[in-house]
Amino acid sequence: MGVRIHKLANELGLDSKELIEILQDLGEEVDSHMNTVSKETAEMVTDMVFEEEETTKDIIEVEDDITVKELAEKIDIAPNSLMAELINLGIMATINQELDFETVEEIAAEYGYQVKSIEVDSDDEEDVFGLVNNIEDDPNDLELRPPVITVMGHVDHGKTTLLDAIRKSNVTAGEAGGITQHIGAYQVEVNDEKITFLDTPGHEAFTEMRARGAQATDLAVLVVAADDGIMPQTVEAINHAQAADVPIIVAINKIDKPNAQPDRVKQELTQHGLVVEEWGGDTISVPVSALKQENLDELLEMILLTAEMQELKANPNRPANGVIVEAELDRGRGPVATMLVKNGTLNVGDPIVAGLAYGRVRAMIDDHGDRIEKAGPATPVEVLGLSDVPSAGDPMEVLEDDQQVRKIAEKRQDQRRVEKLERKAAVSLDDLFDQI
Ligand code: GTP
Ligand code: MG
Repeated sequence: MGVRIHKLANELGLDSKELIEILQDLGEEVDSHMNTVSKETAEMVTDMVFEEEETTKDIIEVEDDITVKELAEKIDIAPNSLMAELINLGIMATINQELDFETVEEIAAEYGYQVKSIEVDSDDEEDVFGLVNNIEDDPNDLELRPPVITVMGHVDHGKTTLLDAIRKSNVTAGEAGGITQHIGAYQVEVNDEKITFLDTPGHEAFTEMRARGAQATDLAVLVVAADDGIMPQTVEAINHAQAADVPIIVAINKIDKPNAQPDRVKQELTQHGLVVEEWGGDTISVPVSALKQENLDELLEMILLTAEMQELKANPNRPANGVIVEAELDRGRGPVATMLVKNGTLNVGDPIVAGLAYGRVRAMIDDHGDRIEKAGPATPVEVLGLSDVPSAGDPMEVLEDDQQVRKIAEKRQDQRRVEKLERKAAVSLDDLFDQI
């Protein structure tokens, strides 16, 4: 005796058609004549469907600045109970305190929720600031590209020194003199493979830049000074990298110092969910001295290994898009923007829009100070020719022609103006109420 398909489907909350598809996928026999399946098959499918249901927990969306109070609401418990839970985890938090993603995940899991991190992007309106031409590439057009690495960490832990050291030991003597300015984005060549590095400031005022840095990259190198250990911006960098789903390699720096305690750093890392390999975890950590240029080769090797596993690809044969790393107004040259090409190839003469600015690429300068004509995926370049100074983190892209880039930039400028006015109006209303 078989079990009727439509009855089984009904019990499982499926259409008969859906059920038949599932059965076919499983290679199970369906007696199309009788429209039945064997009892064993019915049991197996039932188990499967219910098991799946059990493991699919409710998903809650969480912004990365979620507070104790907001989380309590989302998982439907009293804030006080949540605070008690947190104390169990060794966290003394006030009701308005922000929680790191790890903690949120842990708590949510206890209450049967899965957490999805969403970006804190205030306006829900149509995103006029995003990419215009965001067509997916045909997989056949993709080619391997260099990895983009962001160096993050607490202020003064040695990020810039580390990058300088990496750079010095990897540019030829002749070129070394050519390193004139610090642009925060470099490309080095290790064993004939290119690696692009972005430097980020550790100062607490630059949260936003670290968040953007994490999003623009494939891998984060977390620099932790061995004499200082994990500090607030170290934790924040970890959170940004994890929220952006970017793997982390830890560079335990300043091991030349007499008071260096690399093991203490490893110990502290475990409290933030990073267990180093030698302690049975999967976080790669490399002890280095940026100042004495010690062990940098090993760090680079680890970076390349990790990047290789990601098989990073881009399509060099399309109009470029990317992100602004930094920009400034130069007296002689006008607006100068350092950008990272993420996809496509940027050419001198291309019409581009970057945030609120637009123009044609008048000249491009690479990280050695040389003029170049084109810049492919994962290349950092300085670009001259924009109408205005874009902001770090703004997307940039090449569009059809002068009219189109101008039109897009003007639309964004209008939107920005409206937002400003709205803010002003809100402020003056508040003032008014204050006075009553
Ligand atoms: P911010 O950009 O301000 O966040 O700092 P940073 O992380 O880029 O640090 P930076 O490279 O500017 O280094 C800060 C100080 O630490 C400098 O005085 C460096 O010389 C020193 N320093 C960096 N690396 C090492 C190291 O390996 N050993 C020792 N002894 N000092 C180091
Ligand atoms: Mg620095």
